[in-house]
Amino acid sequence: MKTFREILQKAEADRVAIGHFNVSDFTLVKAVFSAAQEVKVPVIIGASEGERKFFGTRQLAAVVKSLREEFDWPIYLNADHTHSLESALEAAKAGFDSVVFDLSALPVEENIRRTRKAIEELKSINPAILIEGEIGDIGTGSEIHKQINTHDPILTTPAEARQFVEATGIDVLAPAVGNAHGMVQSMVEGETKKHLRIDRIREIKAATEVFLTLHGGSGTADADLKQSIDAGINIVHINTELRIAWRRGLEEGLAKEKSEVVPYKILPVAVSSVQEVVRSRLKLFNKMP
Ligand code: G3H
Ligand code: ZN
Repeated sequence: MKTFREILQKAEADRVAIGHFNVSDFTLVKAVFSAAQEVKVPVIIGASEGERKFFGTRQLAAVVKSLREEFDWPIYLNADHTHSLESALEAAKAGFDSVVFDLSALPVEENIRRTRKAIEELKSINPAILIEGEIGDIGTGSEIHKQINTHDPILTTPAEARQFVEATGIDVLAPAVGNAHGMVQSMVEGETKKHLRIDRIREIKAATEVFLTLHGGSGTADADLKQSIDAGINIVHINTELRIAWRRGLEEGLAKEKSEVVPYKILPVAVSSVQEVVRSRLKLFNKMP
């Protein structure tokens, strides 16, 4: 089995991106894993602090480990948007392959100082763990917002990206390049899309030469996602689109037969609904028809 770093190096060489999909429950894990098997590509399961609290940090790690071992499949586990060292350490000890240490809300000097310390402690638990750092404002919340600032976003500059990477020693950088977490209703209806600053991604890649993650992937125009991967994005995060599909599938499963109470007869509809979204995103990220 390739390490997470090797998988990213291969994606970089092939100019494709690894899909990162957030999960809160086993229905979502099942959907993400089945889609990755269908498309025959590596995949990253992500869980933020809230998602880990609900699933259980060690319990999710055990589920992903069991899938990796039983199916000999390149499935990796990321501790997404982790705001405290304590919860980052808990994930590292549980066996997560990477941590997004997200102090982007703090002044950059403090972000640098605390990210450096976190890297030191996390790598002493697992030297192979990859640490992602974040700078700039890409909003919060993988949900349906009243509004998202996509008109004049504050973008990460190549100079601040380079300074942050050099000062911290992070393995992966999450920049602000026009992306934003969550969707607005017009995106859910498919009437509007998020657009990315491809030029800025290319400049940041050239300035830093580290792996780059695109957060807030839901609702982004397909063409922009493809171009962002050509410009240097290695990982794309999708969450809100999955949550919408999960809810629709669940409602459909419940509506089918009013008196049905057997979970394994209701939930497969939610699995297929999410799986369809993951399948189409994985094909796009891997440049498949
Ligand atoms: O870390 C999670 C993501 O960045 C997901 O963003 O909900 O807009 O897809 P999204
Ligand atoms: Zn994110």
